[in-house]
Amino acid sequence: MKLLEIHDLKTHFFTDAGILPSVDGISFEINQGEILGVVGESGCGKSVTAMSILRIIPEPPGRIVAGRILFDGHDLVSMPIEALRKIRGRDIAMIFQEPMTSLNPVYTVGEQLREVLSLHLGLDDDAARARIVEMFSLVGISEPAMRVDAYPHQMSGGMKQRVMIAMALCCSPRLLIADEPTTALDVTVQAQILNLLVKLRDERGLGVMLITHDLGVVAETCDRVVVMYAGRVVETACVQDLFAHPSHPYTVGLLQSLPDAAKPGSRLQTIPGNVPSPLNFPTGCRFRDRCSRASSACSLEPPLHVVGDGHEVRCHHPYQGGEHEHAIA
Ligand SMILES: Nc1ncnc2c1ncn2[C@@H]1O[C@H](COP(=O)(O)OP(=O)(O)OP(=O)(O)O)[C@@H](O)[C@H]1O
Ligand code: SF4
Ligand SMILES: [Mg+2]
Repeated sequence: MKLLEIHDLKTHFFTDAGILPSVDGISFEINQGEILGVVGESGCGKSVTAMSILRIIPEPPGRIVAGRILFDGHDLVSMPIEALRKIRGRDIAMIFQEPMTSLNPVYTVGEQLREVLSLHLGLDDDAARARIVEMFSLVGISEPAMRVDAYPHQMSGGMKQRVMIAMALCCSPRLLIADEPTTALDVTVQAQILNLLVKLRDERGLGVMLITHDLGVVAETCDRVVVMYAGRVVETACVQDLFAHPSHPYTVGLLQSLPDAAKPGSRLQTIPGNVPSPLNFPTGCRFRDRCSRASSACSLEPPLHVVGDGHEVRCHHPYQGGEHEHAIA
């Protein structure tokens, strides 16, 4: 079942230097019980997309200029802000990369969760405390009954991120937007938190939008993947297809820049060139300055090709059939 549908979303920033079309006509959907990975180089618009869903774009300079974001059939873009506030934190929750900046140092973590539970679910203190202890054990916080009364500074970074996840999940949201939730954490804690997301998907049917730089995380955690480049979606596929049959030259480039564990000493390739500035994106395909397959046709908008079941690519000359295997060999 579709949980969230984004249709042709455009979020632009109106700066002194000019208009930045940071998110420029993207469409994708997230199903119930699915972890959707969103990948792409720094600055491609992943966080702006996430913030647009909850309408927390700094405005000005930013503004959603077009598009619809349907949740339960209701358009979050045109919804009155009071109605959206009820959805935020209750039906759709978000966790950020930096847990340290999201918790208030003055209050115990229990007090901070209690506020959320009281606001959205109207729970009294005893019911809230029981719920918090339950959530803390769910996210793997040891001695949960004691930790409720701890202050953020008494916890490690990994523990604080678990508190943030407990806070995000305490009202049983149906959609979790996780923007690089484990980047600041060590590998062991990272694995535990990703396992927790997988468990919540399996046991509670949670839908997750997982933004990450890390294709290894995508391979192990995600069901489907959206690849973004310069404010646009260039490829969408289930995770197996994306790795086995990458079709967009940018996706192939991203995969080529992965270290190949099977081939010790194999050389790491990076995509030549730089991401263009949003102030002067090229016309047509925005990847064309860096693409070895570019032709004169690429100065026109690339068409959308369906290359497999649920596998779509926006490119004039996508890799087809087994061609990509050669490309990433
Ligand atoms: N507050 C802002 N003011 C002006 N421009 C902004 C602002 N926030 C984002 N942008 C623009 O939006 C673009 C996309 O930013 P975004 O944060 O979504 O990138 P990202 O894909 O999340 O990158 P990263 O992987 O580094 O987190 C940026 O390149 C920048 O041009
Ligand atoms: S449209 Fe052209 S330039 Fe863009 S990725 Fe495809 S082949 Fe390369
Ligand atoms: Mg970001």
